[in-house]
Amino acid sequence: MAYLTLLLAILHVHKALCEETFWDTAVQLSETMTLECVYSFTDNLTQVEWSKINGTEKVTIAIYNPSHPVLIQRNYRHKVHFLNSTEGLHNMSLSFHNASEEDTGTYSCLFHTFPHGSWEKKIKVVQSDSFEIAAPSNGNLYAEPGQNVTLSCQLQRKWPVQQVMWEKVQPHQVDILAYCNLSQKTRYTSRYQRKTWSNCSKESMQSVLIIPSAMAADSGLYRCRSEASSGENETIVIRLIITDGASNNHFILPVAGGSVSLLFVILIIVITIMFYNRRRRRQVRTPLKEPRDKQSKVATNCRSPTSPIQSIDDEKEDIYVNYPTFSQRPKPRV
Ligand SMILES: *[C@@H]1O[C@H](CO)[C@@H](O)[C@H](O)[C@H]1NC(C)=O
Ligand SMILES: *[C@@H]1O[C@H](CO)[C@@H](O)[C@H](O)[C@H]1NC(C)=O
Ligand SMILES: *[C@@H]1O[C@H](CO)[C@@H](O)[C@H](O)[C@H]1NC(C)=O
Ligand SMILES: *[C@@H]1O[C@H](CO)[C@@H](O)[C@H](O)[C@H]1NC(C)=O
Ligand SMILES: *[C@@H]1O[C@H](CO)[C@@H](O)[C@H](O)[C@H]1NC(C)=O
Ligand SMILES: *[C@@H]1O[C@H](CO)[C@@H](O)[C@H](O)[C@H]1NC(C)=O
Ligand SMILES: *[C@@H]1O[C@H](CO)[C@@H](O)[C@H](O)[C@H]1NC(C)=O
Ligand SMILES: *[C@@H]1O[C@H](CO)[C@@H](O)[C@H](O)[C@H]1NC(C)=O
Ligand SMILES: *[C@@H]1O[C@H](CO)[C@@H](O)[C@H](O)[C@H]1NC(C)=O
Repeated sequence: MAYLTLLLAILHVHKALCEETFWDTAVQLSETMTLECVYSFTDNLTQVEWSKINGTEKVTIAIYNPSHPVLIQRNYRHKVHFLNSTEGLHNMSLSFHNASEEDTGTYSCLFHTFPHGSWEKKIKVVQSDSFEIAAPSNGNLYAEPGQNVTLSCQLQRKWPVQQVMWEKVQPHQVDILAYCNLSQKTRYTSRYQRKTWSNCSKESMQSVLIIPSAMAADSGLYRCRSEASSGENETIVIRLIITDGASNNHFILPVAGGSVSLLFVILIIVITIMFYNRRRRRQVRTPLKEPRDKQSKVATNCRSPTSPIQSIDDEKEDIYVNYPTFSQRPKPRV
């Protein structure tokens, strides 16, 4: 019963957020594509079925049973295969070596296990450009391997946010990591093999995604999409960069590129102001905006990538208004 409710909830989510029937992963159609399906629990696998969903029907593609050879349906023999992988991970990813337009659609990978029962992942294959192009990043977040990384997404105050979804966006694939309906507090269990944690709190006006013990493979684009019941929506994309540990890039750059030049501008202005103040000692000393500058270096959480863009403008404006002569300085670019 609870499972059915959850299914219905997910169905709703995807209808609203994805305008399609529900899926856990979207994959870009290509001649040689792999539909990833990894069951990362240790129960005993009894059988795995791959099928294509056609309306309400499921058309079987392949069946794997540990005590039998893999069975692939005749229509698919010339275009799909399984790559043999470690048994423990239960990796039943389906590889296409000759996919064409007719292979777009939704696929189901259904594990029957003991003692947990069934586990299903739905994968939608679409004809699309690189998914990354559609997701320009709003900010960068740097972290070292082994750190627990927290991505945060400031929610709108202008309209009542009803649902929040976190996705990992790769050029060829989009995976849903977390979904939250703020009024229902329904939990969606991600089928992505990398386990993450997200909270679902209306009060904090911020949604977080926690990636425990980050590793190099976690680098990439993370998208936070929030939506009101009225259809208003907002998307924030954060690029997570896991450094090799040897580099000194500890601090956070809230906005790609822009913040580097911002730091430069601040540095130059601070130096100039110190020089200026020394020369005109009698004048009242102007306090520097140190706390803000420090915060951007020390904070371990990425601030909402939308606000720093504004704060850069604010800061620039403040500075240029206070010291109009410096505005002739060429803005350093990095
Ligand atoms: C979220 O929960 C509310 C309250 O139960 C419900 O009315 C709404 O339809 C849900 N939204 C989705 C997309 O499931
Ligand atoms: C899984 O199968 C193995 C060997 O058949 C058995 O020893 C083990 O107890 C089984 N595990 C579970 C959780 O049933
Ligand atoms: C999908 O279903 C439609 C009718 O519902 C049918 O005409 C079509 O042949 C089916 N496709 C496959 C691949 O089974
Ligand atoms: C690829 O599929 C097409 C039809 O979809 C078929 O004619 C062709 O022989 C296939 N090629 C290979 C290498 O299997
Ligand atoms: C599962 O197998 C596919 C193809 O065989 C491979 O690309 C993928 O990296 C594997 N995933 C894991 C977690 O082993
Ligand atoms: C992997 O290889 C082993 C031994 O070669 C075989 O028994 C097993 O069925 C293979 N698994 C898949 C998914 O092909
Ligand atoms: C990451 O989180 C886990 C569980 O909350 C905790 O045990 C661990 O110490 C944390 N690791 C770091 C590097 O903060
Ligand atoms: C969600 O995370 C934010 C930021 O860490 C925190 O302020 C808030 O209390 C959390 N809410 C819940 C319900 O855990
Ligand atoms: C999100 O909002 C934009 C306008 O800001 C609108 O064009 C778009 O259709 C909305 N998307 C959804 C899924 O409602």
